[in-house]
Amino acid sequence: MAESISIPENTRQPLLVFEALIPQLEALWMGETDEIACMANTAAALHAVFGHHWIGFYRVVDNELVLGPFQGPIACTRIRQGKGVCGTAWQRKETLVVDDVDAFPGHIACSSLSKSEIVIPLSDTTGQVKAVLDIDSAELARFTAVDKEQLERICYLLQRHLYP
Ligand code: SME
Repeated sequence: MAESISIPENTRQPLLVFEALIPQLEALWMGETDEIACMANTAAALHAVFGHHWIGFYRVVDNELVLGPFQGPIACTRIRQGKGVCGTAWQRKETLVVDDVDAFPGHIACSSLSKSEIVIPLSDTTGQVKAVLDIDSAELARFTAVDKEQLERICYLLQRHLYP
């Protein structure tokens, strides 16, 4: 197994960074079916490459989102459906990009440094949400259309791997 994620040094364009990263994520998941193990390396790899303030997964356990593998400061452990950005993305079964978390009604402020956020649900083949990927940035409006599209691609590949 590789010791670290490698992105060619002169790669600045976000799309090219994702294109270098995605096959390395797939290699990390290969042969590993444990959800926590795959999520843990995904959070670590995304954090190593992008360095966002907080990157992690919440898993649906007994009809609540429960904190899973993450990188960053300590975070709230349980989120109910429809609550905060994570609970709303789960309820709506769609990606939410929030440019200014203070303008999102009901945003759960785990860290005052978080300014913008993207949350992407992961579902099984029946469409039931199993987990969400939550990424928080200390910059306002940090997540672009390219970030959304490529992070959704990563979540699609991971859900297909974990919940075949
Ligand atoms: N911001 C999230 C809560 C989770 S933390 O940011 C890690 C929300 O409102 O759903």
